[in-house]
Amino acid sequence: MRILVVGGGGREHAICWALKKSPKVTELYCAPGNGGIASVAECVPIQVNQFEEIAQFAIDQTIDLVVIGPDDPLSEGIVDHLEAKGLSVFGPRQNAAIIEGSKVFTKQLLKKYNIPTAAYESFERYEDAVAYLRRQQAPIVIKADGLAAGKGVIVAQTLGEAEKALHDIMVAKVFGESGNQVVIEEFLTGQEMSILSFVDGETVCPMIPAQDHKAVYDNDKGPNTGGMGTYSPLPHIPQAVIDESIETIIKPTAKAMVAEGRPFRGVLFAGLMLTPNGPKTIEFNARFGDPETQVVLPRLKTDLLDIFLAAVNGRLDQMKIEWSEEAAVCVILASEGYPGSYPKGLPIEGLEDVQDSIVFHAGTAVKDGGVVTNGGRVLGVTALGRDIAEARAKAYADADRIRFQGKHNRTDIAKKALV
Ligand code: AMP
Ligand code: GLY
Repeated sequence: MRILVVGGGGREHAICWALKKSPKVTELYCAPGNGGIASVAECVPIQVNQFEEIAQFAIDQTIDLVVIGPDDPLSEGIVDHLEAKGLSVFGPRQNAAIIEGSKVFTKQLLKKYNIPTAAYESFERYEDAVAYLRRQQAPIVIKADGLAAGKGVIVAQTLGEAEKALHDIMVAKVFGESGNQVVIEEFLTGQEMSILSFVDGETVCPMIPAQDHKAVYDNDKGPNTGGMGTYSPLPHIPQAVIDESIETIIKPTAKAMVAEGRPFRGVLFAGLMLTPNGPKTIEFNARFGDPETQVVLPRLKTDLLDIFLAAVNGRLDQMKIEWSEEAAVCVILASEGYPGSYPKGLPIEGLEDVQDSIVFHAGTAVKDGGVVTNGGRVLGVTALGRDIAEARAKAYADADRIRFQGKHNRTDIAKKALV
């Protein structure tokens, strides 16, 4: 089969890497891809928002299945656009991708169907939001309604900080239209866990859980990023809690989307907080997580293409998905300055010295035959091992073998799972 993956980050590298193992895949393309994806797929210079060009390429190349990686094109309706041209696509349609694209929509959905989440209020007017905020207590969480490249959530430690966030979002419009509405939410405490599931309507096939590290520095200090590292499994979280999350949050949400006339088909990503009062929803995403995918797919034993095809053909309920018992740890190597501004085009050395890891490229390009930095998150170094300790030791040993100017990474990925 001829497959096209849309996207160009570490997630798409992991998807291409997994698809490449399928004996059914004869041609694999990625638009636009990156310096590392080029080693497993043919990269085509089309950007993820060029729907017309993507459709034309897929038609000309008689592509059998298009797989969409990132959130932005999903929210903008790429699946509807490609399906209207007769293409077969893995990913949610626009009316279902809203579960990530609008936090107000999702909070209302969860409330309507009694699905556990933080208490909240939403606002369209800045004055109303501020008046409400001044009656609350810190810490408190402010969320821009729409997509904001992972930066639209502010966990404010003081009401002053929260008020500044409201002003930035609703008045200064730092996230543009995404700030037309805000959610002000109760601060939840507990361990975080991500569960990604293959979903087709009411059929939910959960993947093995993973944990991300959002803050840029060790001990969860500093501003939030897209994710600085992940691991799976989570040995310190009881299976009963994982099962409870699936039964009380993920399955009811898939069902609610069907009831709303917005059946979800694709990967539904639940960001969960394991509070003293049970698991609660932090957010839903309409796609694979990045860098969750870089630890989840290396543990997948079933052919990924078979799962995609089953979902697209409404046969997901007949799939038996198998996972390896091994543990996986992914350490992200980031550019100097990330998650703020950062330089690009710096040469990366030592990739050939890597011994025990899979290196997923997140933001790289090929220049003059060499690999250079081309993004904030540059590489994801994933290692598998008998347990978290072994996987972690291998990933860090290989992370140290890779060099570029200004490289930084957290040194405590998966540390929580060691105690
Ligand atoms: P999100 O972009 O929705 O994943 O939020 C980013 C991060 O903010 C999450 O991973 C949590 O660490 C934190 N967060 C979001 N909502 C809450 C909440 N209600 N209480 C505590 N932390 C939260
Ligand atoms: N790692 C978090 C996300 O993909 O949104």
